[in-house]
Amino acid sequence: MEAKRVKDSAMVMAHQMEPHDANPAGNVHGGVIMKLIDTAAGVVAIRHARRLAVTASLDRLDFHHPVFVGDVLILSASLNMVGKTSMEVGVRVEAENVITGKVRHTASAYLTFVALGDDRRPTLVPPLVLEGPEQERRNREAQARRQLRLAEKAREGKPHPTDEGGVK
Ligand SMILES: CC(C)(COP(=O)(O)OP(=O)(O)OC[C@H]1O[C@@H](n2cnc3c(N)ncnc32)[C@H](O)[C@@H]1OP(=O)(O)O)[C@@H](O)C(=O)NCCC(=O)NCCS
Repeated sequence: MEAKRVKDSAMVMAHQMEPHDANPAGNVHGGVIMKLIDTAAGVVAIRHARRLAVTASLDRLDFHHPVFVGDVLILSASLNMVGKTSMEVGVRVEAENVITGKVRHTASAYLTFVALGDDRRPTLVPPLVLEGPEQERRNREAQARRQLRLAEKAREGKPHPTDEGGVK
């Protein structure tokens, strides 16, 4: 399978926040931003795999600043790492106040997608070509998150020493 570069699937998506995205005070709901993050990351994963890809997990999502009705959200999404069938996508969200022009870093998130074959089972994805120190750093950090996740999963799979076989 031919390797692909990060820039071959990277994407920037912009979306203006409307009244139905917010509470009565005009603060945009976190869930609205989460959906846009999932959408942007999904497009990147599917562009890399050129296959259907589903969200397997969301490793981390921090909201740094509120977003208000009228702000334009700018979501920059790109691949950090690919495994055999999985892909980690990083999404940076900025909000621009279109009146003042002020841009604020609103949120960052890391999502893992898994590519599915015609049988709806995980299927191989193309390797990723890393270009430059920034992409290499992101890849190292994504590898570390993956190791952490796998270790947690292994721990969860093992019965706790004090667990005597379920909730009583
Ligand atoms: C994601 C899904 C396809 C994984 O299927 P699975 O049979 O458990 O997959 P496997 O154990 O064979 O692992 C396949 C890959 O997925 C990765 N993976 C599986 N579960 C994961 C999770 N929770 N987080 C991150 N990666 C995960 C594995 O590390 C593996 O990666 P690799 O091939 O790059 O080494 C399956 O759990 C699924 O369909 N989930 C529902 C997805 C969905 O519908 N999402 C929308 C929101 S509900």
